[in-house]
Amino acid sequence: MQRMAGESTAYYAPTALTGNRAAIEAMKTADLVIDLFGMYRGSEQEEILAAGTRIILVKEPPEVFMRLRPLESDRTRVLAAHARLGKAKTMHVQSAAGTDLKVALGEYPCLIQYGFADEPGRWDHCPSAFIAIWPTEGSAQGTVVLAPGDMILPFKTYVQTPIRLSIRDGYVREIAGGLDARYLRDYMESFRDPEGYAVSHLGWGLHERAQWTALGMYDKRQTNAMDARSFAGNFMFSTGPNAEGGGTRHTPCHLDIPMQDCSVTVDGEPMVLEGRLVVADQRSVG
Ligand SMILES: [Fe+2]
Repeated sequence: MQRMAGESTAYYAPTALTGNRAAIEAMKTADLVIDLFGMYRGSEQEEILAAGTRIILVKEPPEVFMRLRPLESDRTRVLAAHARLGKAKTMHVQSAAGTDLKVALGEYPCLIQYGFADEPGRWDHCPSAFIAIWPTEGSAQGTVVLAPGDMILPFKTYVQTPIRLSIRDGYVREIAGGLDARYLRDYMESFRDPEGYAVSHLGWGLHERAQWTALGMYDKRQTNAMDARSFAGNFMFSTGPNAEGGGTRHTPCHLDIPMQDCSVTVDGEPMVLEGRLVVADQRSVG
């Protein structure tokens, strides 16, 4: 199966850069690479970062880029969240719609995005501000209910009909519901890869200028949906690979699913309550 609709953030597989030794070696000698197309995170990106090169991925149009341009305060807020999530052993997510998901943490590091590639060997996606972590292999248990208004990327649509994901031992085992569930099932089945159903990075949005409504305001090819991934207080569920976090799962099927109105606790401490950040140093106001 080929990447559909140019969605580099939703389809992890080799690109035109893969195997191009001249280009890869040139990037390894650079201080900073600005990636405007989305290189394969499972291979050459790691090699280039290991050489100390910084990489910043930029795919949003100028209007979104300027509205969400990274500020030092975004970095401070994300690092405050990392201070909690980075040492946590458990995450529990609940929602009135029926989500009740528990995972163990500790096997893999956090995914820390604040829009700057400010250290040697650092990758970031600009603009963005969120924290996430890959759960311990096989530990995810429970149910995730996608409610109307939640967003599935790469579809770049708002869910209209509830989707019930049954999760056992780290994998989505059943996708139940109406039209949206059928669409999701069909898309995931098209990869013919059982590893595509694994639970991937989990976390929450920390960008206070990002908007839940933004996805409805742009044509799909105009935006890479960084508003959706970053808006403050979202819970982002995801499925598929964990190679970026140091795991061995390289499946190309990757979904990012920003959700509204969820409550997230780590080690029993609430981070997000019904879609609102509740820890003071995660907020820039209030
Ligand atoms: Fe992702």
